[in-house]
Amino acid sequence: MTTPLQRATKEDQYDLGDLQWAKEGRSESTRTGFFWEYLEPYAELWKDKAVLDIGAGTGWLVSHALEKGAAVAIGVEPSEKNIAQGQQDHPGVELVKSSLEAFDNAGQLFDEIVAVMSFPHIADLDAAFKKIRSMLTDGGEVLIVVPDYEYFKTSRHGYGIEIQDIDQDQYAIAVTRESGTLADIVRRLAIYAAAAKAAGLELIEEKAMMPTETQMKRAPKYASVKDKALTHLMRFRINESS
Ligand SMILES: C[S@@+](CC[C@H](N)C(=O)[O-])C[C@H]1O[C@@H](n2cnc3c(N)ncnc32)[C@H](O)[C@@H]1O
Repeated sequence: MTTPLQRATKEDQYDLGDLQWAKEGRSESTRTGFFWEYLEPYAELWKDKAVLDIGAGTGWLVSHALEKGAAVAIGVEPSEKNIAQGQQDHPGVELVKSSLEAFDNAGQLFDEIVAVMSFPHIADLDAAFKKIRSMLTDGGEVLIVVPDYEYFKTSRHGYGIEIQDIDQDQYAIAVTRESGTLADIVRRLAIYAAAAKAAGLELIEEKAMMPTETQMKRAPKYASVKDKALTHLMRFRINESS
């Protein structure tokens, strides 16, 4: 039997037969609308920048980066299904079929490296942040969106939940919804900050992402958790003193 941790870190999780994820990963979904509401103010600064989206899914954020005037915008994505959906939804958007771990940037550096909910699939955070640091320009920034530690293990919306404890700061969780089972590694925010710091990146901002008015209008079930953080946005910059 596959454990939540094994499933969470399977590169082809999104291609497994029982998961129909692409619909919620497309640009018009309530989910991506929620992320974009929080990310757009940052994306306003992406004009003329080189942007890399790690675990880009269907490429909606890469497409937005180009609309905001990014000089270069590339998505790295290991799932064939997500890439196929992305090619249909955003023709011309560059999606490279690869995991972060295997990605060959061929020496290209990026001003903005973003990862929206893909870190929950990355087993080795230290190696991930080191790799990200190696692809960042001097004044570059990293922006990640990660799950909230409490919210993700809360029983909600009738979903089936299987939790596997890893240690006191992280657990793996498999959540079964109508669209299938999706597993994540959920970590306390301090774990990300520590791994980033070890790679020479300092945390410059952390924002709790609560349900937005638009999201609650589109999906009223979120009104029941309106004061709770669903996810967090964490922003890092190169630590000049490291
Ligand atoms: C929850 S989805 C988020 C996709 C997209 N960022 C979004 O917000 O719609 C996580 C994505 O990370 C990808 N992924 C899984 N393992 C990965 C890895 N090792 N490196 C990069 N991406 C990975 C998955 O294929 C999936 O598309």
